[in-house]
Order: sequence, then C-alpha cells, then structure tokens
Amino acid sequence: MKHCCFFLICCFFIPQLYAESNADYKISPSRMGIVRKTLMDEGNYYDITINGHHFKGSRKWGERWDILKGAMDYRGKKVIDLGTFMGFAPIFIKKYCGAQSCTGVDFHYLDSAKRMADAFEVYVRFIHADFDSSTSWEEKLGYDYDVVMCMSLFHWVRDKERLLNYLSHFNTIIYEGHQPAEIEIERFRPLGYQAKILGTSYSGDHQMTSSGRTIILFTRSDS
Ligand SMILES: C[S@@+](CC[C@H](N)C(=O)[O-])C[C@H]1O[C@@H](n2cnc3c(N)ncnc32)[C@H](O)[C@@H]1O
Repeated sequence: MKHCCFFLICCFFIPQLYAESNADYKISPSRMGIVRKTLMDEGNYYDITINGHHFKGSRKWGERWDILKGAMDYRGKKVIDLGTFMGFAPIFIKKYCGAQSCTGVDFHYLDSAKRMADAFEVYVRFIHADFDSSTSWEEKLGYDYDVVMCMSLFHWVRDKERLLNYLSHFNTIIYEGHQPAEIEIERFRPLGYQAKILGTSYSGDHQMTSSGRTIILFTRSDS
C-alpha cells in the first residue's frame, strides 16, 4: 500500500515539476549580459533558465508559464497585465502566443521590464501607474483589451474595490491571488464570472513543502 501511494504521488508530481520548469528559453547571446544584470538587480524573484544559464529565484517561471500559455488562444488578442513586475507575462505572450498587443503596468521595475522585452526582442507597451493613486489610472490605461491579467497583485493594493471594479469591465480575466482558490473565486462570483482553475504554482524548491497559488480564468457568459 505504502509503495502504491508513493508511486501515485510520483506520477502526479514529477511530470508537473519537470514540464516547463526545466525549459531553457533562448535569446540572442549578445543580450545575456543585460538579462543577467536585470534579473540579479531585481532580487532573484523568478527562477528561470535562459540560454542554458539557470537563474535561481523563489518562483519558478516555467511552472507558471506552462499554466498561462495553455489558458487560452491568445492569437489576435489585446492583453494587459496589471502589476507586471519584470513583464514576463506580456513578453512571453507576445513572443510565443501571437497576441496582437501586450501591455504591462506597474509602479516600479518598468526599466527592467523594458530591458527584458528588448532581450526577448518583442515590443510590449509598458505604462507606469499606481493602483492606489488618487488620480485616474483607469483613464490612463483605458479599457480596450480582450484579456486582463492580475497575478499576485490584489493582495498588495489597498483599494481592492476599485481594482475589482476595473477588472469587472473585462469578460476575460487571468487571476492569481494569495488566498485559497475558493476564497478568490467567491470575490468574483457576485460580478457574474465563471471560474476555471488553470493550475497551481509553487514558490520555494519543492511543491510538497511550500504553499501554492492558484491561477484562475474568470470569464463571463457573453465573452
Ligand atoms: C508579487 S509581484 C507579482 C508580479 C507578477 N504579476 C507575477 O505574478 O509574477 C507584485 C507586483 O505588483 C506591483 N504593485 C504592487 N502594488 C502596486 C500598486 N499600488 N500599483 C502598481 N503596481 C503595484 C509590484 O511593483 C510588483 O511588481
């Protein structure tokens, strides 16, 4: 019985651990220096391998990208990523998924995000906005997007009602919160969204010893 459980656990976890987590993303070798400096400057948040060089960080990008790239068909879509940090989500969606346009928004890190977009040789529009500012960031960003992403941001923003109100203008939201999935889903249910759990990603070295965050696709029936 013990062996059987161990076998089942291995079958479930090992393919997930090594799916994209081990992917080696390729960029022009001449841009490696800038990537190295940028990733190290920003505190080794993402764990990622580029051109065979493994950058150690607390969150495995490949694990999350594996979930994000399978979330939908991004071809021809206009995507905005709120709280984009170094812009990995919009950069990867633009580079690998045929999105029409990608926009990343943050109140810090945009120079690093621009450098990463250059390194991956894609155009992503980056907009500076503070979601707690009294000025209208909503007007600055506008609403002309097919998909809005909001990953690991909600927790940090003080005016959560205002952020939810902005999100509620869109029929497709890719969302990752800090709370268990059922709590996050309850937040959106009154706004008329249906939830599809896309997957859970983990920080730390091992899935079984660290807590995960669930990426959820919210859609409304008229989308
Ligand atoms: C934990 S990181 C998540 C980064 C990325 N979305 C991801 O999931 O990998 C949170 C990001 O939200 C940004 N952020 C937090 N509060 C913000 C605010 N009030 N206005 C704009 N950006 C904010 C931070 O600068 C940071 O880049």
